[in-house]
Amino acid sequence: MKKYNHFFDFLISHAKIYGFIFPSSEIYGGLNAIYDYGPYGVELKNNIKEFWWKSMTQLHENIVGLDSSILMHSDVWYASGHVDKFNELLIDNKDSKKRYRPEILIQEYVEKNFLDDPKKKEKTLSRLSQSLKKKDFLDIRVLIDELCICDPVFKTKNWTEIRHFNMMFEIKNEKNLFLRPETAQGIFSNFYNVIKSNRMKIPFGIAQIGKSFRNEIFARKFLFRMREFEQMEMQFFILPEEEIKWYEYWKNSRLKWHLELNLGDKKSYRLSDHDHLAHYASAGSDIEFHFPFGFKEIEGIHSRRDFDLKSHEFFSKKKLRVFELKKNYIPYVIETSLGLDRFFLAIFSSSLKKEKLENGTIRVVLKLPYYLSPVKAAIFPLVKKDGLPEIAKKIFNDIKICHRLIYDEKKSIGKLYRRQDAIGTPFCFTIDYDTIKTHTVTMRNRDSMKQKRIHVKEISKIIEKETGLKKILKKLSYSI
Ligand code: GAP
Repeated sequence: MKKYNHFFDFLISHAKIYGFIFPSSEIYGGLNAIYDYGPYGVELKNNIKEFWWKSMTQLHENIVGLDSSILMHSDVWYASGHVDKFNELLIDNKDSKKRYRPEILIQEYVEKNFLDDPKKKEKTLSRLSQSLKKKDFLDIRVLIDELCICDPVFKTKNWTEIRHFNMMFEIKNEKNLFLRPETAQGIFSNFYNVIKSNRMKIPFGIAQIGKSFRNEIFARKFLFRMREFEQMEMQFFILPEEEIKWYEYWKNSRLKWHLELNLGDKKSYRLSDHDHLAHYASAGSDIEFHFPFGFKEIEGIHSRRDFDLKSHEFFSKKKLRVFELKKNYIPYVIETSLGLDRFFLAIFSSSLKKEKLENGTIRVVLKLPYYLSPVKAAIFPLVKKDGLPEIAKKIFNDIKICHRLIYDEKKSIGKLYRRQDAIGTPFCFTIDYDTIKTHTVTMRNRDSMKQKRIHVKEISKIIEKETGLKKILKKLSYSI
C-alpha cells in the first residue's frame, strides 16, 4: 500500500543519499519497516537524545535516568498486561495474502473518498470509533463490506473475519521471553531500587531512552511506524490525589518543549485526547505533529495510575510502595513517551526545504535547529595550494576537539556549500589569501547564505554560542 506524496519520496531518497537513513540489510533486499541510521543520521539522532535527556534529567532535579535491559523476566509481561492485552485487530485478504489493520483500512478509505462530504466522513468515523470502544468487531467487518473496501494491491474484497493479534515479538526456543514493546516496564521493575539508591521522594521521575519492538502489521511510512524503534520515556511517580494536577502539568510542559523547537509554526502541533485508551491507561493525550502525510501522534502522555506497580507487586510479591507523610501507598504514575525515530522524522521532514534562488537554480537545504545539526561547521580552503589547506587543517584540528566539524577540499567552494546545506551544517568557514595577511576567514550562514569576515579566534566561540544546547536549555529551564 505504498503511496507517498512526491515530497515524501524526495525526503526518503535525500535521507539515503546523504547518509541519514538506510534500509536495513539492503544488500539482501531489505527488511520491512526496519531502518539503519547512517553517519549523519546517527549524529542527528544522538543530538536529539542528548537534548531530550538533558531537558528531562539536567533541568529537573527530581528526575533521574535509567538504562534497563531489553530482555526481562517473562512475568513482567504477564503483570503488565501485555501478554493478554497488547493486541491489534487484524484482517487478511485471501487473494493477496496481505494483512491489514481494519480500522486503518477504513480511516484511509474515508480520508480519500469522503473529502467532499464531511458529514459522511464524520458519521463513518464515529461509527468506527463506537464499534472499537464496544469491541464490536463484527460491525467493523460489516462497515468494510458496506464501504466496498478493496485490497489496496489486489483490488479484491475477499476478506477474512477480524481477529486479534499480539504485537510482542517472542524469542524462539525461549518460552515466554519477549523483546520489550515499551521501555516503561524496566522503569517500573526498578522503581524500588531507584528510590532506595537515590533517596527519591514523591513526586519524582525516572527517564530512559531505549529500543522497543512491536510486530506491527501495518508498519509503514518510513520511520513513522517501525518494528524496531527507540522510545524516550519518563515515568513520574506522584501522590494519587495529585493525578489531575500532574497530568495537566506534563501535557502542557511537553507541548511547550515541542513548541520551543520551532519546527514549522504553532499550527504544526496539536493536543488530542485519546478515544481508545491503552490497557494500562486511565487517561491519555497525544501530541500530534503535522507530517507530510497529515497530523499524527509523536508523543503520548498517559496517566497509568497504579496499574503497573500494583500488578508488579501482586505478581512479584515484593512491596512496591512508599511510606511518606505517614501514609503507606502505591504512587500513581504520569508517563510521557516520545518515539525517537518518529520525532527524528518530524524534525527531518520539517527542516528539509527546496529553495528557489535568485539565479533560478534550486538549492536543497536541511534547516535543522542548529543545536541538532549533525555537523556544526565546515572548514574549507579556497584553493588546494599556496599553503591554504595547511592553514585550514590547523584551524580544523584546533577546533575539532570541542565541536563536530568537517574539513573538505574536494570540490569547488560553491559545491562544498551545497553539500553542507544538504546535511544541515549551520556555518561554513573558508580560508583564503586574506587569511594569511589578516587572520580572518569568510563565515557563511546556512539559512541566509550571507557571508561576513571574522577573526580566526572567533570561530570556536561562534560555534559554541550558536550551535550549543545552552540557549535552548536556558529557555526551557524550570526553577526549583
Ligand atoms: N509506554 C507507553 C507507550 O509505549 P505508545 O503510545 O504505544 O505508548 C509511545 O508509544 C510513542 O512511541 C508513540 O507516541 C510513538 O512516538 C512511538 N511509537 C510507538 N509505536 C511505534 C512504532 N511502531 N514505530 C515508531 N515509533 C513508535
